[in-house]
Amino acid sequence: MTTSSQIKTVKIAYFSGTGSTARVADTFESELTRRGISVIKSEIKQGNICSDEKEDLLILLYAVHACNAPKIVYQWIDSLDGKKQTPVAVISVSGGGEITPNTACRLSSIRKLEKKNYKVFYEKMIVMPSNWIIKTDDGLAIRLVDILPLKVKHIVDDLLKGVICRTKPKLIDRVFSRIGEMEKNGAKFFGRNLRVNTNCNSCGWCAKNCSANNIIMMDDKPAFGEKCILCLKCIYGCPRQALEAGTLKFIIIKEGYNLKDLENRMQGIQLAPVEDLAKGYIWKGVKEYLLED
Ligand SMILES: Cc1cc2nc3c(=O)[nH]c(=O)nc-3n(C[C@H](O)[C@H](O)[C@H](O)COP(=O)(O)O)c2cc1C
Repeated sequence: MTTSSQIKTVKIAYFSGTGSTARVADTFESELTRRGISVIKSEIKQGNICSDEKEDLLILLYAVHACNAPKIVYQWIDSLDGKKQTPVAVISVSGGGEITPNTACRLSSIRKLEKKNYKVFYEKMIVMPSNWIIKTDDGLAIRLVDILPLKVKHIVDDLLKGVICRTKPKLIDRVFSRIGEMEKNGAKFFGRNLRVNTNCNSCGWCAKNCSANNIIMMDDKPAFGEKCILCLKCIYGCPRQALEAGTLKFIIIKEGYNLKDLENRMQGIQLAPVEDLAKGYIWKGVKEYLLED
């Protein structure tokens, strides 16, 4: 395995819908740069060409969608040439952590990478606040943001030492992950039915920033195609909150989703113990993640 002294250049390829995974990518970049390693950071986005760089290590980061990698990540892997047998670390970023059925969320992306001759030697889950269905309590959410640099430091220590970390999802998680693939059809439906409200001032932010190039401006208003990947960037990111879900409304967090807003409103607030905030199975993965260090 490649070790510290051999790693001079790291490529960080990341897919982020609403900013959490982008924050994780930035944190990896800072930690690696601090250690004198040069970093090529590349966002996975429709239309971003994947060039063959001279990286000694590839770190693939993506937001977990329905216990899987988003479709755009699979398309990106398909576009790789994979001739170099580059070592790879796959880091998934979820709201729920390493619990059933999330544990299968790296399975298909790793299989695809291995088919292309990449050497996946490391996989891990980073937990960030949830951007769908159930909002993470602010006290837990800010802890997740605050602990990120430490988590990344530990992962970078492992990667530079060449530590091998591979996991084996349970059969039931694989089944859930397969069922989760149906989300990709739901995404099309969701995208086609997005609504534009009267706040829209035709600024075009959504069309410029859509990761899937699914939004175009037509007669000064956003129009939606069939390529939505349900990342929710347009809904949470619109500067005037002018986009709304027409279907599957329950998945949208009413208060919105913005890490900077979270950091501002939590400044100076005394936090309750993790055990008091993370109760019940759905927060089990978050609790374990926060308490393990
Ligand atoms: C369509 C969709 C599906 C999701 N599915 C899961 C899931 O199966 N498990 C989970 O723990 N979090 C899930 N999440 C939450 C995200 O993984 C989590 O909030 C992540 O931090 C978002 O990263 P981003 O801001 O980079 O997009 C889902 C989010 C979306 C939008």
